[in-house]
Amino acid sequence: MRNFDVARLGSHETLLVVDFGGQYTHLIARRVREQNVFAAIVPWDSEDLTAQWGRAKAVILSGGPRSVLEDGSPTIDRDLLTSGKPVLGICYGQQLMAKLLGGGLKPVEHREYGRQRLRPAEGAKLIREGGGVWMSHGDTVETLPPGFRAAGETQRSLVAAMEDPERRLFGVQFHPEVSHTEGGREILRRFLFEQAGFSGDWTARNFIEEAVEAIQEQVGNGSVLCAVSGGVDSSVAAALLARAVGGRLRCVFVDHGLMRKGEAEQVVETFRANIAADLVAIDASEQFFSALKGVTDPEEKRRRIGEEFIRVFEAHAAELEGFDFLAQGTLYPDVIESGSRTAARIKTHHNVGALPDWMRMELVEPLRLLFKDEVRRVGGELGLPEEMIERQPFPGPGLAVRILGEVTPERVRIVQEADWIFRDELDRAGLTRLIWQSYAALLDVRSVGVMGDERTYEHPIVLRAVASEDAMTADAVDIPFDVLARTATRIVNEVSGVNRVLYDLTSKPPATIEWE
Ligand code: XMP
Repeated sequence: MRNFDVARLGSHETLLVVDFGGQYTHLIARRVREQNVFAAIVPWDSEDLTAQWGRAKAVILSGGPRSVLEDGSPTIDRDLLTSGKPVLGICYGQQLMAKLLGGGLKPVEHREYGRQRLRPAEGAKLIREGGGVWMSHGDTVETLPPGFRAAGETQRSLVAAMEDPERRLFGVQFHPEVSHTEGGREILRRFLFEQAGFSGDWTARNFIEEAVEAIQEQVGNGSVLCAVSGGVDSSVAAALLARAVGGRLRCVFVDHGLMRKGEAEQVVETFRANIAADLVAIDASEQFFSALKGVTDPEEKRRRIGEEFIRVFEAHAAELEGFDFLAQGTLYPDVIESGSRTAARIKTHHNVGALPDWMRMELVEPLRLLFKDEVRRVGGELGLPEEMIERQPFPGPGLAVRILGEVTPERVRIVQEADWIFRDELDRAGLTRLIWQSYAALLDVRSVGVMGDERTYEHPIVLRAVASEDAMTADAVDIPFDVLARTATRIVNEVSGVNRVLYDLTSKPPATIEWE
């Protein structure tokens, strides 16, 4: 198993999150980093756990889906817990801590799920205020381990929180990282700063300085090629590289003809205005359209588009060959996922197929440590404009996965026009900030309508707007009806080929954000 090596993080004080498979593990790390403390995630069964524990300043044990009462459930070496580092166990983490240190546990009769009221114990170190906390557990600590005292209770859990302040060991049965927990941020803050003594050295400015140095060290006098898409990740990666290696960077942007209306031109213009690097812009839309001719299966579309990118690179080898390094905007969630055993994929999100031999250069991945929100902050600190850093995520295969059925220039036009109107109406209504992604999709069914005195038999457009923190889960945005109605009227009137407009209300799960 590949693990991310904490030793490579330079001088940062590190909070280690030991992952027991909990659904909120990433969120724990993000909440910690929001408080300017670097957090690294390591799986509980990593061979490297002891070494990483040794280098960390403090540790959080995550939640997890198993029961500590089951045989063979995930565990760690008891000596780690008593090695003197401050530890906070969350949910499964608290239960494991109790089990390893001599406490008693039992399954609860009725699973405690959802919001509960927490009453703090007097003098508790991390929990000062009562309030609603988010619970989801099937076991509970019944008797405290020696040296511990209760730090809070709910109606059902007598030990909703426990602590041994002398050894700086803390446990909470609820999830302080979830936004439904009142005062959760404060609990983490007290653990990090009052108990573990972090100084808060993880800031965008420090990151930039260190990343520039690390790039310079890796690249030396070499030259770097960086593919950009207009998205925030590749833009920020390019800006960091430009700062680190200046004229030895060349960027390449391939327009596959599947961007939103006017976007390809805008990406090139914004890049040139803001990033001091040589940009090769290639219009390959016709080539992509012919590769997609007759293809309706979503995965086949992705495969062909990936393959076509490679063909474009090959055709432009003269401009792209001879570089020593290839830059990629890989983010921390991808790094963790590639180190985990259970990376089930619902859709292939790899945008580019196997690279030709001459493109197999050494990789430079300056964003490997960052979550998306941190990439945005770094972009802001680098002075990139809002249109670049606040840009919605856009799938690599572009509108091809928003056009159900065959992708043709005419169908791309329909989606682009409808999408443009939707964006405009959302902008006017001041709703853009609530939205993680919004778009129009074209369906491949037809329905009957009437326009003037004519019967029509045309396609429906689906509007989708979701709120999300990380694209793993998402909810439909509650857009006022008048905004939707105005959008629908405009689309049907202004976009030929459309006679009906629908709004997608489904969350993810069970749906996905994209339609394909
Ligand atoms: P889903 O549809 O799986 O999307 O809920 C989650 C996030 O991933 C984006 N997405 C893709 N991004 N290549 C990409 O680079 C793809 O093939 C792809 N498919 C979906 C989607 O826009 C959302 O942000």
